[in-house]
Amino acid sequence: MANLTGAERARYVQGMFTRIASRYDLMNRTMTAGQDVRWRREVIRRAELPSDGRLLDLGAGTGDLAREALRQYPTVAVMAVDFTLGMMHVGQLRPPARRSLPTRLAWSAADAQALPLLADTFDAVVSGFLLRNLGDLALGLSEQYRVLKPGGRIVALDTTPPPHNLLEPLIRFHLHTVIPALGQWISGQAEAYRYLPETTQSFLGPERMAARLLEAGFEQVGFHRLMLDTVSIYWGRKPRQAK
Ligand SMILES: C[S@@+](CC[C@H](N)C(=O)[O-])C[C@H]1O[C@@H](n2cnc3c(N)ncnc32)[C@H](O)[C@@H]1O
Repeated sequence: MANLTGAERARYVQGMFTRIASRYDLMNRTMTAGQDVRWRREVIRRAELPSDGRLLDLGAGTGDLAREALRQYPTVAVMAVDFTLGMMHVGQLRPPARRSLPTRLAWSAADAQALPLLADTFDAVVSGFLLRNLGDLALGLSEQYRVLKPGGRIVALDTTPPPHNLLEPLIRFHLHTVIPALGQWISGQAEAYRYLPETTQSFLGPERMAARLLEAGFEQVGFHRLMLDTVSIYWGRKPRQAK
């Protein structure tokens, strides 16, 4: 799959997420031992939304980040966008966040690399495990920059290639053996859970990813490594004044 590009890559990704949609959340909780819930809390906290803010959850999948946003900020308006209808369908069947109105969450199908959204619209754009899937990362980041209001925040959670240290063999075993086996057991889709280690291994490390955010025009860029440096949260801000 690593060699697929453009529409072919998009079709592959959509087909894979459609097949795993019903078991996606359970698989996330299992393979991260529940840690992803804590990471999502941090992503939303770092979005620093105003009480009447607008948030875009891009590559929202089943909407875990969108619901966490409404848990932390019940009065904001959230748009969850993904190009796999099956993932959003599962998310729409989930109960809404407590205290929030169901109308605070809108779902929309769109490609993160060509958003049918106006410029300068959102106070924050968040994503969970999306960036690694994009065929053109620079285009994906420029779209997020475009739809953010000046001063708006980008916060992204994604896996990073395993670090070269004493734990590397253990981490590689977890990625390449344990995760596909769990994927087969829980969702019957070992291939989808070979895609995860493959794309993780070939993705950017945190320093290079932060450099790409700066290149895209963001300022105040930073990142936080998690889970033995196998996952990172990135953040940045669109400048208040056009550069
Ligand atoms: C690994 S899932 C993450 C779902 C969710 N954000 C989470 O944190 O669990 C990646 C999601 O990104 C979506 N996706 C991948 N490429 C996309 C694109 N170009 N445009 C929109 N969605 C995309 C997939 O359909 C999938 O639902």
